[in-house]
Amino acid sequence: MYRSALRLSSLGLVLGVLAAPAPAVHGGPVRAAPGPGSYLDSRLPVEDRVADLLARMSLDDKLGQMTQPERRYVRPEDVTRYRIGSVLSSGGSAPSPNTPQSWADMYDGFQRAALAAPLRVPIIYGADAVHGHGNVAGATLFPHDIGLGAARDPALVRAIGAATAQEMTGTGVDWNFAPCLCVARDDRWGRTYESFGEVPELPAAMTTLIEGLQGDRLGGPASVLATAKHYLGDGGTEGGRDRGDTRAAEQELRAVHLPPFREAVKRGVGSVMVSYSSWNGLKMHRNGYLIRDVLKRELGFTGFVVSDYNGIDRLDGEEGFTRDEVAAAVNAGIDMAMVSSDWRRFIGYLRDAVRDGTVPMSRVDDANRRILTEKFRLGLFERPMADRAYLRTVGSPAHRALARRAVAESQVLLKNAGGVLPLDRRDRVFVAGRGADDIGVQAGGWTITWQGAPGPVTRGTTILQGIREAAGPSATVAYSRDGTGVDRSYDAAVAVVGEQPYAEYHGDLTGGMDLDAADLETIGRLRASGVPVVVVMVSGRPLDIASELPKWDAFVEAWLPGTEGAGVADVLYGATAPTGRLPVTWMRDASQQPINQGDGKKPLFPLGYGLTYG
Ligand code: BGC
Ligand code: BGC
Repeated sequence: MYRSALRLSSLGLVLGVLAAPAPAVHGGPVRAAPGPGSYLDSRLPVEDRVADLLARMSLDDKLGQMTQPERRYVRPEDVTRYRIGSVLSSGGSAPSPNTPQSWADMYDGFQRAALAAPLRVPIIYGADAVHGHGNVAGATLFPHDIGLGAARDPALVRAIGAATAQEMTGTGVDWNFAPCLCVARDDRWGRTYESFGEVPELPAAMTTLIEGLQGDRLGGPASVLATAKHYLGDGGTEGGRDRGDTRAAEQELRAVHLPPFREAVKRGVGSVMVSYSSWNGLKMHRNGYLIRDVLKRELGFTGFVVSDYNGIDRLDGEEGFTRDEVAAAVNAGIDMAMVSSDWRRFIGYLRDAVRDGTVPMSRVDDANRRILTEKFRLGLFERPMADRAYLRTVGSPAHRALARRAVAESQVLLKNAGGVLPLDRRDRVFVAGRGADDIGVQAGGWTITWQGAPGPVTRGTTILQGIREAAGPSATVAYSRDGTGVDRSYDAAVAVVGEQPYAEYHGDLTGGMDLDAADLETIGRLRASGVPVVVVMVSGRPLDIASELPKWDAFVEAWLPGTEGAGVADVLYGATAPTGRLPVTWMRDASQQPINQGDGKKPLFPLGYGLTYG
């Protein structure tokens, strides 16, 4: 089914509403009519439509297209007045109440406002649906990318993209700031879990997510625009410092960090987001060589380039825009600025820079051509409103089943002494640990809030609930968070330990990478009972466990599985045999960071390691 059906009828409604003339604040051209040769004629080739529309646009129309405020800092009437081209929800920015319906209502409100301007150019609305539509309560949340890198199943990732696109389409959101194609080279980096793996081949293979999100072609059923991010070298910064400096010869930058972007362009990705980080001291947001010459000319990228959140106003290291920053970023090839709150100033500076020739008009036209081309290709002019037929897919049983399969495929079995796994359905099992019964912990960052949080933050199945379902009806599954109450009557004890939620920047580790003291105590209690101990680690990266591992009978790395904890239980009970393999090298101790395949360091487990049963 095409999302068009509903969208067409809502467009009719909107156009009806628009019969009354809107106030022409900037004295733009007269209201466009879908006459012959007009950009509103969907039978014309996209190129012709773009050319026709561009010819009708004033400078103010064009500046607006290049501007992306955050939803909290812009009102629908601003969208009309300033001809805003895009609005975003940043991490955790949601309408209240946070329901799929109110997302669709909010989206339609902004869209109606965009269509109320004389040229009726629809906005494109962006959000970080980086492991499913994470800002939306009740959405299906898939494993974060590092788990999908462990699953090594490009077709599965394509299916996850398609499911995510459906859930987004129901809420109206047209544009996903995913996939992150970072090649995480230092696990201290707080975005390691957003990486499919430490070698370029893994993120490159998982660019199938783009095909899933965008569909066979943009504008097809439930098709959303994808974003390859963060260009370039975000995963290579010194010390794994977020927004830091990637020091590398060009040859190394190209060999390690560029291949996934090359692949993304081949698969037709519609947008690319620039990285906050620098390359050899030069901020990527002003790197015309890498954006203009390499990405656009050499790789032949025809979509549009978006800045990162406030990425332009920090070019000089200070918060707040200067005119020089705006001109430098736009001239370097950034087509749209994710400006959050200070978007008026951005527009003003860019207008000045165009008027005095610092930014050539041809650059502004090129940016507009790129943005409008993607909007036409997406079918936004024909179907601008949320397609509520897809609302019922948000958190649907089919999507949760897909997520559960992805979770099972992403588990990596790293130790299984004496074959303690798989558990038997008749076993008496004692479960403990801070990650055992906590949706927020197993979903990690970019879940309802930017950094994520422990607790019942959204609907799903915890790992403990999954274990209870997997165990036979007559089996005993006991639970206490810290392991108190365990005794030798059990056949096995499962400790679900690891990391508490975090996201970019805040998740960087500078000191040790040890397991938390509370987790070690819990495992200690289980061990003291004499029962075989299975450690399941919920974490966004390898932790420093070499000295603890000899005390554990079995060890499963679960990554950040998302809402469907039953997939972990599927592997623990052998309903699915473990097939996941490490997408990153597992250090012997934290002082080895950065540690990567081929660097001669001796790891605890090499890249690609993973056991199975039998
Ligand atoms: C992140 C991006 C994200 C953007 C919008 C930035 O801080 O680096 O990955 O897409 O915020 O939320
Ligand atoms: C937003 C994030 C964004 C970050 C950038 C936060 O307030 O919620 O989406 O990435 O700011 O600094």
